[in-house]
Amino acid sequence: MKKSIAVLPGDGIGPEVIESAINILKVIADKCHHTYIFNYGLIGACAINKTGSPLPEETVDLCKTSDAILFGAIGDPKYDNDPSAKIRPEQGILKLRKELDLYANLRPIKIMPELADISPLKKEKIKDVDIMVIRELTGGIYFGKHERVQDGNSAIDISQYSKFEIIRIANMAFELALHRNKKVFSVDKANVLETSRLWRETVNDIATKFPEVSVTHMFIDNAAMQLIKRPSEFDVLLTENMFGDILTDEASMIAGSIGLLPSASIGDKYALYEPIHGSYNKAAGLYVANPIGTILSAAMMLRMSFKMKKEAEIIEKAIHQTLKKGFRTRDICGINTKKNHLTNSKEFTAYVIQGILDSNPS
Ligand code: IPM
Ligand code: MG
Repeated sequence: MKKSIAVLPGDGIGPEVIESAINILKVIADKCHHTYIFNYGLIGACAINKTGSPLPEETVDLCKTSDAILFGAIGDPKYDNDPSAKIRPEQGILKLRKELDLYANLRPIKIMPELADISPLKKEKIKDVDIMVIRELTGGIYFGKHERVQDGNSAIDISQYSKFEIIRIANMAFELALHRNKKVFSVDKANVLETSRLWRETVNDIATKFPEVSVTHMFIDNAAMQLIKRPSEFDVLLTENMFGDILTDEASMIAGSIGLLPSASIGDKYALYEPIHGSYNKAAGLYVANPIGTILSAAMMLRMSFKMKKEAEIIEKAIHQTLKKGFRTRDICGINTKKNHLTNSKEFTAYVIQGILDSNPS
């Protein structure tokens, strides 16, 4: 099969984790007789530096004409430390999500058995953790009006949701739950927010179409606590944009490192795959970052956009084997360095590639 992939490395460690994933995809293409065409596009701070825009029009066109999009990371401390900056790297990814209508962000949280000891939670607590967070990605406070008022001495950010936006994400959550443990946990703050009351009401409406699936509503503050207290009880975790951003960083710690987690941002027409971690600019160019989240995002792309299940499984298996042999990037090396071998991201990727080459694709 021939597939074109828009590759958007972005900023900080983005380019190096993307490099790992692309090298893996090249090996998979060879092994399984596919042709992947990689076309690179600019986004984020590097795009601002080169073109003045965090999301040049060519990048949007490239994404729209590709079969899938692979994205690295975005951000630059220069802008974080300058609250007055009007043009910001993050606008690149936010605008792209909106333009391509990537309204559902799927973030699977699983424990890798080889890494059970790096989670800050006790082993027995995390044993059966298998959560699919489904985060609404194109609405809420992220996309409401942001404004300074009263001569700059006061500020507002508006959170708005339409029933239409909630219906489509809730439908997807229940569909997902049907193929999993048939439990939807919907997160809101309905005791305080009107958007949350609309959210809860709409989720309940959709729930009636899925009698086999149970629905539990949780306030965001309680959900944040329960995630640590009993993570293995969750199944599909449905949340609006901002709550999902925060909860998934928290949930990444159950797995042990934010560097491990992949995600898919999907709409009805386009799909973008990205690790959930940020740009970690301090480490840029050092090749110490964990490429697993990005490699797993590429595997999600193969499975979901290209229906290449076997290829995705080969990659996932090779990652597990590499971990089983004790190879670890810095974030997951732990203190037991006698057992583990510290690698940089290039070395780690090379071991995964070796695992793929040694695998039997039948
Ligand atoms: C994420 C990131 C983004 C978000 C930033 C970079 C705008 O934190 O994908 O989780 O807040 O959605
Ligand atoms: Mg985030």
